Order: sequence, then structure tokens, then C-alpha cells
Amino acid sequence: MNIKILEKLDKEFPSHKSCLRNALEAGQGHIFRWWDEITSREKKHLLEQIASIDFQFVNKLFRDSLRKATNRTKGCLVPPKVITPPANDFERNVEQNARKVGEEALRERKIAVLTVAGGHGTRLGSNGPKGTLPIAPISRKSIFQLHAEKIHAIQKRYDTYIPWYIMTSETNNHATQAFFKENQFFRLDPQQISFFTQGMLPAVDLRGNLLMSSKSNIVMSPNGHGGTIIALNEKGILNDMKRRGVKEIFYHQVDNILIKIADPVFVGYHLKDGAEMSLKVVKKYHPEEKVGVVVCLNGCLQIIEYSELSREDMYAKNDDGALKYNAGSIAVHMINIDFLEKVYQKGKTLPYHAAIKKVPYINGNGVLVNPKRDNAVKFESFIFDMLKHVKKGVIMEVLRQDEFSPVKNVEGENSPVTAKQDMVNLFGRWLCNAGVSIPTDSQGNVIGLIEINPCFALDEEELKGKINKTLKFNGFLRL
Ligand code: UD1
Repeated sequence: MNIKILEKLDKEFPSHKSCLRNALEAGQGHIFRWWDEITSREKKHLLEQIASIDFQFVNKLFRDSLRKATNRTKGCLVPPKVITPPANDFERNVEQNARKVGEEALRERKIAVLTVAGGHGTRLGSNGPKGTLPIAPISRKSIFQLHAEKIHAIQKRYDTYIPWYIMTSETNNHATQAFFKENQFFRLDPQQISFFTQGMLPAVDLRGNLLMSSKSNIVMSPNGHGGTIIALNEKGILNDMKRRGVKEIFYHQVDNILIKIADPVFVGYHLKDGAEMSLKVVKKYHPEEKVGVVVCLNGCLQIIEYSELSREDMYAKNDDGALKYNAGSIAVHMINIDFLEKVYQKGKTLPYHAAIKKVPYINGNGVLVNPKRDNAVKFESFIFDMLKHVKKGVIMEVLRQDEFSPVKNVEGENSPVTAKQDMVNLFGRWLCNAGVSIPTDSQGNVIGLIEINPCFALDEEELKGKINKTLKFNGFLRL
């Protein structure tokens, strides 16, 4: 069959002959099984996909994934040094100094925001980009709009300009850009927002064979946010940053709706220490919480992803009963752009991690199967693996209720419902601290709905200066 196809391909697409050879040599010839049934347009599409794949590399990733043990880091870890939330006047003073440094950098237009939004959001079961999800408790504004309004508010407060870079993937780039256009870029200057796409890699089955989602389409998946480094360098984004005078990147994931974008305190700590890459963490609230943990491994900072932490380390406790490795990454980083460029130029590639997932595919009869069990391996590199090249990095612990509420799942933990409630609770605390009486239930959740536009008040201090203390909350408040 393969020889026949090879002959046909020679005739139909002479310039693509090597594609088939590459696929065949790598043992992936099955992707041509339906060659005779598909249209010439579909053939072209398939050939384009094939031409973008390094088959030997994918096979190597698969072989490597079989070799890796999950508890490879066992026994060599130490908890990292963390800046904890200020508990006394001295620490508050230190924080104030950091804030000043950060504010100065913002005023000097040295900071860009980078939002990674290339993931598939499979757990959320959504079709569209995650950032388009309506999430604000009253207005139902999208996640993207909330981020945009925070950027707006910071620009106003510090009389500055913040370039905003959004990483998408081939699967959601068009929809993401269309959403921004439809919404007039949320009143930001369209020139300040740049979209760029990350690379893709094929998903394979548990024996290493490429999966097809139709007779003419190979299942491709974003190559992980580690792909940011390659994309920033190869798509001219880093040069664009330099042209604009940017020195540091505030990096965050699209899904955290409590994100303090370009938090001046964090920026300040990072700059004061001359750090190359810094991170924010929260205390893990149970051993199996799905967050990466920040540790020191052989003297180097590292994040170990929840799926790769051994059970022994996951449950390890200190003498006081607290979790030993409890610095949970909220995936918020400051990254120095010279450092990022150096990592790229030195060819220091990031390792690929294998994730076992449920991926729909067509079986040998060409019928689409929605698997009930994990059936596929996807390969991703993680941006935080750059940490092993870092000589100086700051780890800042923040309060979960103030800064971390990601939307990951359709329901339950980390879902749109919890995200909305977390927003309402945050605004409720701000109002309460400003002297307004806010009723809560036995779990501490605000009874009622509150929404505060970041352009009205970006934080508690700003709100205190703007509201009337005689304000009565009647269960519904939109400011
Ligand atoms: C992620 C982190 C985890 C952290 C947690 C905090 C990874 C591998 N793990 O876990 O350490 O504690 O968030 O919420 O990141 N994305 C891309 N391109 C990709 C893959 C992902 O842009 O190829 C983006 C997604 O759009 C999303 C973010 O990265 O914004 C996180 O991806 P996700 O797969 O949801 O990671 P988590 O398992 O939640």
C-alpha cells in the first residue's frame, strides 16, 4: 500500500515526496490509510501538516516519555526561600520600598504584559478561547476584558503605556483576534496589543502512533507555554519589546481572574534583587492540589509540576504538621528579557513533558471515537523549566483569596462558579475594610453580588478613597 501511495504522491505532489518517506521511515505510514478517499484539498491539508512535523523528533519524545519515572526528584529537594506577606511594620516598610521601585519601572515604561492563552482548555470543555468566557459576576464581562481593564487602570494610575502580548495557538488565534476586534480592543490602543502563535506538536496513542481526528487531519496540540521562548524570539516579539524600551516581562496565564497585572510590589522585588526570573506562590491548601510546587533542587530553583511530584514529596510534612513543599506556583512570573534572549541564543532547549490525556480520534474503520479512558500522549515544554538557568530569582508568597482563582474546570473546584464567588468575596472584603457592612454566609461567602470595575478602583486603597462610608449594601452593587 505504501509503495502505491508513494507512486501516486510522486505524480500528484512531486515536491512533497520526502514527507511520505519521513513518515514511513518513522513508522507512521498509517496516516495515509485514507489517501484514496479524501479530496485533493484534504490531501493538501494533510501534506501541509506532515511537512510541519519532525517525525523522528516525535518518536524520540515518545521513547523518552516511556523512560521517565515520575519520582525522579525524590529525596533531593529543599523548600525555597520565600518572601512572605508582611506581618509587621518592618516588613510593610520593605514592601513599600519594593512598591516604589516597581512603580518607577512602570512609569518608565519598562514593563510589558505577556498573557499565555494558547491552551486548548480541554478540561473546561469549551470550544472558544478561554479568555472569551463571560465571567464577571454582574456584567458578564469576559476574562480578556477584565485583564484589559486592569491594564487600562494601571496605565491611568502611573501615566504609562503597557504593551500587551498575547500568545495564542493555531487553533484559537483567529477566534481570539476576532474577539478583540469585535470588542474594539476594550478601549486599549490596538497598537499596544500584539498576538503571536506558539508551535504545535502531534499527539500520539499509547504505542506512539500519530492520532487522526478525521481521514485527513492529524491531531495536533500546542507545544506548551515553553514554546513562548521560541515564539518570542522567532516571531520578532522580543525585538518589538526592545524597540519599545521594555526590559522586563510580567507573565501570566489567561485563566486567573484575580490576577494583579503588573503588580508593582512584585515588579519591585524582582528588580531590587536584579533577578532574572521571579515567581508568585500561594500556600497549597491540600497535598494533591493541582499546582506546580516551587522547590530548590541541587541548589537551583525549580517548579515540579503536580503530575510529576512523587507521592512521598507531595505528602511530606514539617515537624509542625504543615506541608513541607507547599509553595504552590500560580504561574505568575517576572522575566528579564536579556535573560530570556540568552537562554534562547545559547540553544538551551527546554525539556518536553508528556501528558496522558483523553483525545478523540478515528479508529481503523474511520469512525470517530470519544475515549472514556486516557488514550493519548501530548508533549509540552514548560516556561518555568527556564528556572534551572536562573542565578537570581525572587519568590513572593501572596494570599490566595486576593490573587489566585483560576478557571480550569466546568464545575466544582476552579470553575466559573468559584471564580465569580471569589471575585465577589474580594470586592466584599475591600468594601468591608472601607467600613461598609457586607453580609456573609457560614463559609465566609458574600451574600449578594458585587462587581467593581478596575477602572473605578484597582485595589482596596483606591476604593477607600472613592466610596462613601454611609453606603448601604442591599445585596447588589456595581461600581
Ligand atoms: C498550570 C501550571 C501549574 C500551575 C497552575 C496554576 C503548567 C504546565 N502548569 O497548570 O504549575 O500551578 O497552572 O494555575 O503550566 N497554555 C498555553 N499553551 C500551551 C499550554 C498551556 O498557552 O501549550 C496556557 C493555557 O492557555 C493556560 C495556561 O497555559 O492559560 C495553563 O495551562 P494548563 O494546561 O491549564 O495548566 P494547569 O494544569 O492548569
